[in-house]
Amino acid sequence: MKPINVGLLGVGTVGGGTATVLKRNAAEISRRAGRDIVLKMAANLDLDAARAIVGDGVDVVADGFAVARHPDIDIVVELIGGTGIAKELVLAAIDSGKHVVTANKKLLAEHGNEIFARAQEKGVTVAFEAAVAGGIPIIKALREGLSANHIEWIAGIINGTSNFILTEMRDKGSAFADVLAEAQRLGYAEADPTFDIEGHDAAHKLTIMAALAYGIPMQFDKAYLEGISKLTARDIRYAEELGYRIKLLGITRRTDKGVELRVHPTLIPEKRLIANVDGVMNAVMVKGDAVGATMYYGAGAGSLPTASAVVADIVDVTRLATADPEHRVPHLAFQPDRLADLAI
Ligand code: HSE
Repeated sequence: MKPINVGLLGVGTVGGGTATVLKRNAAEISRRAGRDIVLKMAANLDLDAARAIVGDGVDVVADGFAVARHPDIDIVVELIGGTGIAKELVLAAIDSGKHVVTANKKLLAEHGNEIFARAQEKGVTVAFEAAVAGGIPIIKALREGLSANHIEWIAGIINGTSNFILTEMRDKGSAFADVLAEAQRLGYAEADPTFDIEGHDAAHKLTIMAALAYGIPMQFDKAYLEGISKLTARDIRYAEELGYRIKLLGITRRTDKGVELRVHPTLIPEKRLIANVDGVMNAVMVKGDAVGATMYYGAGAGSLPTASAVVADIVDVTRLATADPEHRVPHLAFQPDRLADLAI
């Protein structure tokens, strides 16, 4: 069978990790996908930096559209981030009949309704495991593992940068700004770290999970946001003295009035498992009516953990693209016409 050709948009922290994982685990990945997966093209503004990462045999270009529309590319992997050029490229790829893999939570939370509708129209898949909670396969859990359940609520630590900051402030007494700079150096933070510390990034991820869990459209604009920037070392110390930890939680639940979406610092009794999720680690709890409460834990940011989710999506989409079209299961995040009354 002919290989699946992948085109990468953006060879930064996650793009570089994706190229590394595809190369390092090529044989296992292809065996699991049932087909060879080849990184054929990559687009990056800094051509030399990209070439040094992706190596020989990959065509490196500066123009993302040349990748998104290239006739030989089957899957376009968008790892640029943001809603500017990334959105144009994703739509161009969909319009060219390509499947898309993206880690871009902002793009999906803010423009996902348009993007998924376009993908449905064109009969292609948009996969996004890496958009939520880094390496934790939470999208798969919500869509597949918990598909028997009526989901009641989801609560989680879903921003690695802010959890890293809160942990370092507590354990080492470090200053907020110093830990944030370290998170940036380690490749955890967003290009604009305000998104991490003011709760936007967590709300983007929460919006996506709520859409999957409840079958509602993306409604990021309805989310309540409160970040960690006003927290002081003294708040953290007082919480400790009272037997609590402060964590930035994203919480969504069904109520009689609709679906709640909120992100805010939360006091959690220190004996609770989730209170002990530290550093860049994320944890997501999901309560289903049949299964009860479940919890998923792992690295929420960083090059290789996020690449793990990106490559898993590439494998998934390869299997899907290889299946007989008549037997393909729709891969959408939500059914726009279902449960639309569950507006927040
Ligand atoms: N800036 C994000 C975080 C990256 O810190 O969680 C992963 O989405």
